Amino acid sequence: MPKKLQIAVLPGDGTGPEVVREALKVLEAVARLEGFSYEAESFDFGGDRFLKSGYIIDDADIEQLRSNFDAILLGAVGHPDVKPGILEKGLLLRLRFALDQYINLRPVKLYPGVDCPLKDKGPDDVNFDVIRENTEDLYCGNGGILRKDTPNEVSTQEMIATRFGVERCLRYAFEFCRRKKAEGTGRGHLTLVHKTNVLTYCGDTWFRAFEQIGQADYPDIERDYNHIDAACMWFVKNPEYYDTIVVPNMFGDIITDLGAMIQGGMGIAAGGNINPDPGGTSMYEPIGGSAPKYTGKNVINPLATIAALAMLLQNSGQRSAGDRVEQAIRATTPRLKSMAAGRMGHSTSEVGDMVVGAL
Ligand code: IPM
Ligand code: MN
Repeated sequence: MPKKLQIAVLPGDGTGPEVVREALKVLEAVARLEGFSYEAESFDFGGDRFLKSGYIIDDADIEQLRSNFDAILLGAVGHPDVKPGILEKGLLLRLRFALDQYINLRPVKLYPGVDCPLKDKGPDDVNFDVIRENTEDLYCGNGGILRKDTPNEVSTQEMIATRFGVERCLRYAFEFCRRKKAEGTGRGHLTLVHKTNVLTYCGDTWFRAFEQIGQADYPDIERDYNHIDAACMWFVKNPEYYDTIVVPNMFGDIITDLGAMIQGGMGIAAGGNINPDPGGTSMYEPIGGSAPKYTGKNVINPLATIAALAMLLQNSGQRSAGDRVEQAIRATTPRLKSMAAGRMGHSTSEVGDMVVGAL
């Protein structure tokens, strides 16, 4: 008997549980249609539990996620009554680091019928993938504050690029780009985004590794380089220029929010925190937050979470099931008035039902 797909579900805060519920509905339907079996176990990590008990997540929880699950589906992190940073660092970043999810894969795809804020741009123009390094850079938390609250206060925050961390991310990106080219969904064009003219140390490590690895092992992939500020400009002016982008953590965080906007907003943007190594446990999430003001109203768009589920399946040995969910999303987007919460013309649960219907 084939192995059951073991999924840990972390609905989290705010609208997280509502959107996750719809994704699970889609999962149940696609598993039936594609004939695979899975188990989904829910965990109540998040703001409510933290407020009641002071508990976020511990080593034993992480060990459990690592050893018992193939993948994690996350709803949202962030609670209005919890000081910003506590859950982001204690839960989301903790999991990314502890599970060594060193790739943050964020497709920027404009689906059919989705309003794009860019004039005269359509689904053929906005269609690329951002591969964000997810375990280094300014996110390591190295630094400190000296002489705090005095006129001589000094603070530092270190940007870290290790050859090992940069290289594994670049190799993933080259492979990803090559696979897209072979499948006819990309043109073998990989853009490194950095700021090498100012960040002359970290930028140099990235740039040299990019050139060396590309020359030695990926001569079939066209290498391209953009400064981060220029990339922001091209995202808006000529998004069709991009095929695959590889970028360090902090810049990747920023450009993927811009990417989410040009693909129609947070209601539709999904991402995967991926540990591609054998046995790695990856975590998929809608890239928007917990949207407290919409909580419990059944108006939030579940498509981003359903798209995260599609990515989960595509990357967890159920490629055809994942592709099928993606196709069902494509069939659903033209039927919604807007991707924005409260303006879809349908409720959260109706949109989930529409995707199930389209499967
Ligand atoms: C994201 C978020 C996180 C990040 C925050 C919540 C820590 O903005 O997933 O993009 O900066 O990576
Ligand atoms: Mn972000």
